[in-house]
Amino acid sequence: MGSLTFHGHSCFELEGGGSRLIVDPFLTGNPLADISPTDITSLDVVLLTHGHADHLGDGIEIAKAHDATVVAPFELAQYCETKGCTVHPMHIGGAHRFPWGTVKMVVAFHGGGVAGDDTGQYTTFPCGYVLTLDGTRVYHAGDTALTLEMQLLAGQVDVMLVPIGDNFTMGVTDAARAVEFVQPKVVIPMHWNTFDIIAVDPAEFTNAVGNAADVVILEPGQRHDL
Ligand code: NI
Ligand code: MN
Repeated sequence: MGSLTFHGHSCFELEGGGSRLIVDPFLTGNPLADISPTDITSLDVVLLTHGHADHLGDGIEIAKAHDATVVAPFELAQYCETKGCTVHPMHIGGAHRFPWGTVKMVVAFHGGGVAGDDTGQYTTFPCGYVLTLDGTRVYHAGDTALTLEMQLLAGQVDVMLVPIGDNFTMGVTDAARAVEFVQPKVVIPMHWNTFDIIAVDPAEFTNAVGNAADVVILEPGQRHDL
């Protein structure tokens, strides 16, 4: 059985398929992060939903430190490669079976600029991921608006990780509608309270979801078994 640990903002560490993965490792400069990059002792894969600083974060540095593979939308992967990372580029709609599980890259409606890319040449589409690890399907929605495309995932997700902080992404009300679209068994909110502009009361999200799914609110450092 795998597990998922929340490190604040949109950063989740997953164990499964005999490997350790991290999604959107924004640790340095994240006021809610419970670990720093040097606390990571082993890592196989870094998944990036987009290139904004609060998602790309420490990704390049920790990938290189552990010789982990960076999985990202093609142009963002190229950027990471220029910084010395081993990369596995993908793009929206594509899936790939890795030795440790399957990754499908899905739509997210958001900005695609890459922090640190002064040329803008690596700007690309942001994404979400559906990861299948040891038979459990985890959907990390990335930063996104509510989209009708989420209906395509109906019944195909066990655990949904959804932004609720509003302003840059869905807020509580739209995130609850996203849960109706996707119909996961469990939903875990993310991208909230890191900064004042995305401060929300997660209890409002729990109320808005109602009986549609089990809402699990993780504080940074807390783990959820898959
Ligand atoms: Ni963003
Ligand atoms: Mn963000």
